[in-house]
Amino acid sequence: MLFTEQEVQAAVRRLAEEIARDFRGQPLLLLGVLKGALYVTVDLARALCSVAGGASEITIDYIVLASYGQNTASSGEVRMLRDSKRSLEGKNVVIVEDIVDHGLTLDYLQALIRGRHPRVQKSCVLLDKPHRRRTNVRIDYVGMTVPNTFVVGYGLDHQERYRNLPYIAQLGH
Ligand code: IMP
Ligand code: MG
Repeated sequence: MLFTEQEVQAAVRRLAEEIARDFRGQPLLLLGVLKGALYVTVDLARALCSVAGGASEITIDYIVLASYGQNTASSGEVRMLRDSKRSLEGKNVVIVEDIVDHGLTLDYLQALIRGRHPRVQKSCVLLDKPHRRRTNVRIDYVGMTVPNTFVVGYGLDHQERYRNLPYIAQLGH
């Protein structure tokens, strides 16, 4: 066990408070990166409704990426399995990711979304694993920092297992 369910929920709430402070009731499009960010995207959308100054209008869209295949080490190659179907032009877009490790996935995504001309583009990440970074990708909102181990739960999987855990655990510990 690395973070209990209560710690995870508290982190999501802090992220919602920071986002609400920046966007001050403006409409927001949360762009979740599935499948890992499934849980954090939904809980963040909910938390934004209850924090002070939460967004007036929240829409959710998602893209599906794959970068890890069957391993616990990144393949270094990002594949798009399902793209967002909505126009992002002129919107306030917050990319929601589960975890940033090497930073390749978020880097790829930020460039892709920038090309679609949102009004504002921010990145929100539940977990930061900064030890093996290979890009200097910018993260606007960070939930919690994790050690350099493979973590599962709350959307994060190992070969599709453990996503459903309400807490975050280290694999093999
Ligand atoms: P990056 O491109 O190395 O930053 O990899 C980011 C992606 O790899 C994340 O979106 C996750 O889906 C996955 N990932 C990285 N570290 C972990 C981990 O510890 N557990 C589960 N998935 C991870
Ligand atoms: Mg992910």
